[in-house]
Amino acid sequence: MIKSQSLLFCLLLFICSFAHGATPQVGGLKCEYLINPIGIDAKHPRLTWVLLDDNRGARQTAYQLFVGTDSALVSRGTGDHWQTNKLTSDLNLINYQGKPLQPFTKYYWRVMVWGNNGKSIASHVAVFETGMVDKSNWQGNWISDNKDVNEKAAPYFRHTFSTAKKIASARVYIAVAGLYELYINGQKIGNHRLDPMYTRFDRRNLYVSYDVTSQLQSGQNAIGVLLGNGWYNHQSTAVWYFHKAPWRGRPAFCLDLRVTYTDGSTETITSDTKWKTALSPIIFNSIYTAEHYDARLEQPGWNTANFDDKGWKGVINRSAPSGSVVAQAMQPIRDVESIPAKSMTKLADNVYLFDLGRNISGVSHITVSGEKGTVIRLKHAEKLGKTGYADQSNIDIHYRPTDDKDPFQTDIFILGGKGQESFMPRFNYKGFQYVEVSSDKPVSINKESLTGYFMHSDVEAIGQIGSSNQTINKIWSATNNSYLSNFFGYPTDCPQREKNGWTGDAHIASETGLYNFDGITIYEKWMADHRDEQQPNGVLPSIVPSDGWGYEWGNGPDWTSTIAIIPWNLYLFYGDSKTLADNYDNIKRYVNHIDQLYPSGLTTWGLGDWVPVKSVSPVEFTSTAYYFTDVSILAKAAAMFHNKADEAKYTALALKIKNAFNAKYLNTATGMYDKGYQTELSVPLYWNMVPENMKGKVAANLAGRVKADNYHLDAGILGAKAILGALSDNGYADVAYRIASQETYPSWGWWIINGATSLYENWNIEAKSDLSLNHIMFGEIGAWLYKGIGGIKTDPLNPGFKNVLLEPNFVPGLSHFESSHKGPLGQIVSNWKRDGGVIRYSVTIPANSTASIKLPHVAGKKVYLDGKLIAADQPFKQAAGHYEFEIR
Ligand code: BGC
Repeated sequence: MIKSQSLLFCLLLFICSFAHGATPQVGGLKCEYLINPIGIDAKHPRLTWVLLDDNRGARQTAYQLFVGTDSALVSRGTGDHWQTNKLTSDLNLINYQGKPLQPFTKYYWRVMVWGNNGKSIASHVAVFETGMVDKSNWQGNWISDNKDVNEKAAPYFRHTFSTAKKIASARVYIAVAGLYELYINGQKIGNHRLDPMYTRFDRRNLYVSYDVTSQLQSGQNAIGVLLGNGWYNHQSTAVWYFHKAPWRGRPAFCLDLRVTYTDGSTETITSDTKWKTALSPIIFNSIYTAEHYDARLEQPGWNTANFDDKGWKGVINRSAPSGSVVAQAMQPIRDVESIPAKSMTKLADNVYLFDLGRNISGVSHITVSGEKGTVIRLKHAEKLGKTGYADQSNIDIHYRPTDDKDPFQTDIFILGGKGQESFMPRFNYKGFQYVEVSSDKPVSINKESLTGYFMHSDVEAIGQIGSSNQTINKIWSATNNSYLSNFFGYPTDCPQREKNGWTGDAHIASETGLYNFDGITIYEKWMADHRDEQQPNGVLPSIVPSDGWGYEWGNGPDWTSTIAIIPWNLYLFYGDSKTLADNYDNIKRYVNHIDQLYPSGLTTWGLGDWVPVKSVSPVEFTSTAYYFTDVSILAKAAAMFHNKADEAKYTALALKIKNAFNAKYLNTATGMYDKGYQTELSVPLYWNMVPENMKGKVAANLAGRVKADNYHLDAGILGAKAILGALSDNGYADVAYRIASQETYPSWGWWIINGATSLYENWNIEAKSDLSLNHIMFGEIGAWLYKGIGGIKTDPLNPGFKNVLLEPNFVPGLSHFESSHKGPLGQIVSNWKRDGGVIRYSVTIPANSTASIKLPHVAGKKVYLDGKLIAADQPFKQAAGHYEFEIR
């Protein structure tokens, strides 16, 4: 539903971009990349807006900002907390610099923008509201039910209070070690799922803020809190030892409900020992495996004021899990899409198989009726065995159950026997397409009884690809499915077997993510997770967050380069250097550590080209390329932050690494790297290690290698990241497209032809290991379609698409291709189609930006714009606006 809305929105924007002459507007106002957020802790929050003006050459020439606590004043053009002058500037990302922001305060803001015609355009009034701002503003205690960490049932907490005065507004601030659902007077608050997002609980905890004004009533009120284990109290046992995490504890929370009355007075109702607790019908919950629910234990009305809680127990005060409790300023996880079952098959008496028709991350919701005490098991799987039953053999391999009470990805629902009953897990999610439902007694069930919910961080879709090749279109959508299936407040490797924040998978997929989704808030939070994990000597674990596992394995630069690559990509896509600045010292410590360990400049630290087809490249080869990339990013960041000494030091270090690498691996006579495998020729090209004068030769060798490999991939994840771009950036887009559109093994298309709706972990769909059906680590193709065919690229010198590079490739085999991306300045469109002997290329460059257009030379053809011949043999600059080129 939400998905189709955002598609509609994209379409509307797309149509709007053709509607010349519409009145210019200023829209898209965001604070910290969120629309009208509440509970912001940032002292200088970032304010952004978009000039919507489809006139050619449209630009912002000046802006003025107004911020204040009085909405009427702000809307009349007075900001009593901050009012800038009219500033001559085209910036649309500004840090708040007014009077110090107070906690618990609503600020109104608007911006006035002047276009290049000198006319001013006023935005609407937007809002941001501060939260705790400082941890000393918390009043509540951290409380828990004092049960053992091995207690399986999830606890309820309740508290009642009365309000005599008239309520003007009310906010809840809740910090949780574990997961929670919050209720006021029986109503669930908000539609977030699996809140708060996973962090290293013993280093940093997140709190969530809600406006609960409408849920409170005068007189008696009840607050209810249900706590789940999440990653805080991991009871399931697997090879990563999360059951031994240093932070592990019985779930706990701290809550402040701050009520403001119409007379201006405030009152804070807090978590303390007046609260009461009891066990809930959730008799087991594991973020990793599943949830078990016994409806016979339900206590109707437990979260309402009139409930009789005499049988409930007292709570204890306990210590906060860490000294740092900060706002969760990010898009939450939601049930983003509901997916009805496509089919239901009866496999045997009381055994039914539901098929959603596509592989997702999330949960299933079931409604059935049956006798009290009937035990229903919902086994979730990505594939079926030969007999048509759910088969988990590809995903349960690292699970180490200690008994049979916690079956993998299998919810257990015990009926209360009161007619139609429903169940959906609250504190777990899974990766699945199929649900095998079995019961120990007959139940009434049909195809409509089960619905799947696709859950993930609810980030806006901002990219669109379409083409004349259906396989390519399906690859793009499968890539997005896997990207989202692995986006849960931190990027993961897979939604079933691990749910681990594997660093390598995430930096490989970050561009794919940023072209397609507005994910900056998730990445910024995840980089803070990195800072929590980094050792004093600079070392990072291979998974973030981590319980300690991953410092000893898999954490070389080919994986943990996230520390540099992700901040850099955020800078390229959003034009925002904050994450780079926040991580600057961390990147430095990281590369310094590698420099100390590997003074030659060559490093063997890493996993290498993971899950390759057949050829295996040296670990030193790929790890050194990532080490070089990190040092180069650091050198560029140093220049950006005017740190001359660092700039000189890391520019020299980058050069040293590159020289050592080329001295060892490059044959300067032949342009061949090492044994000349695909990965060995692609990686240095993609990561800019090839001497300028050798690029042509190396690229030609790569194209030759691919031809010899019959235009099929021979690469693992690091090679697959590099090869398409290495070819298309160096004159071989046609070769890249042949690989990308391949439909036989090994290729992305091979998965699609075999029914994939998500990306797999292994090229070989018959593989005995490493065969999750929902991995994003081969997902670079989702970015390459924008870069290599649509040609929409970031410009490092003018990031945030201030200047767009438009370098399309009219590859043989496609008759049309459409790509669009909504960047921080608006919608960028790059579409081309063949029309007889003519290629029509249409572009939209958003207001306030420009484009450098580089069109491929088409033999015997010339380029026309608005019917006039133009000189297009060299790249040319174009101002904002919509343009139709003809190549004929
Ligand atoms: C994960 C990968 C990860 C790899 C590291 C696997 O188990 O699923 O995606 O990058 O380990 O080697």
